[in-house]
Amino acid sequence: MALEKTLGIIKPDAVAKKCIGKILAHVEENGLYIIACKMTHLSKEDAEEFYNEHVGQSFYAPLVNYMTSGPIIIQVFEGENAIKTLRNIMGSTIPNKADRGTIRNLYGNHKPVNGTYENAIHGSDSKESAEREISFFFTDNEINKWA
Ligand code: RTP
Ligand code: MG
Repeated sequence: MALEKTLGIIKPDAVAKKCIGKILAHVEENGLYIIACKMTHLSKEDAEEFYNEHVGQSFYAPLVNYMTSGPIIIQVFEGENAIKTLRNIMGSTIPNKADRGTIRNLYGNHKPVNGTYENAIHGSDSKESAEREISFFFTDNEINKWA
């Protein structure tokens, strides 16, 4: 087991549906601690850069439109195996195919919208992604320590 940090984003659809509290409770109840948190509205340039691994995919422009459609809540979570833990409780990308009881299945939109899936939450998919994504949004002194 390893103590890890990972980046989570409550996406615009879930913020608009007032699911912020339920999603954060779900993550906390599964053992992760919130050690940084902010609300922001992504610029087109930031959304393009954040998801640049998907340049060239048919869903890239729809994804950028989706992620800039309203405010988001960005967190750093910490805990044992935080990266895998968050990915497991999020569920897979497509909400109506995600396991029942996962965050995406519970709070995501079960129909595709404008060429993408509104799936409520983002989570880093590897240690390298987590490091890049955390430093994309937070400076070191914005990240707290648990006693
Ligand atoms: P995320 O990065 O947001 O945590 O999602 P993920 O790893 O599960 O999925 P990824 O492949 O990285 O895709 C990023 C986001 O793009 C949207 N998407 N739409 N075929 C499609 O229409 C499609 N595929 C992906 C989703 O919002 C997905 O979370
Ligand atoms: Mg991804």
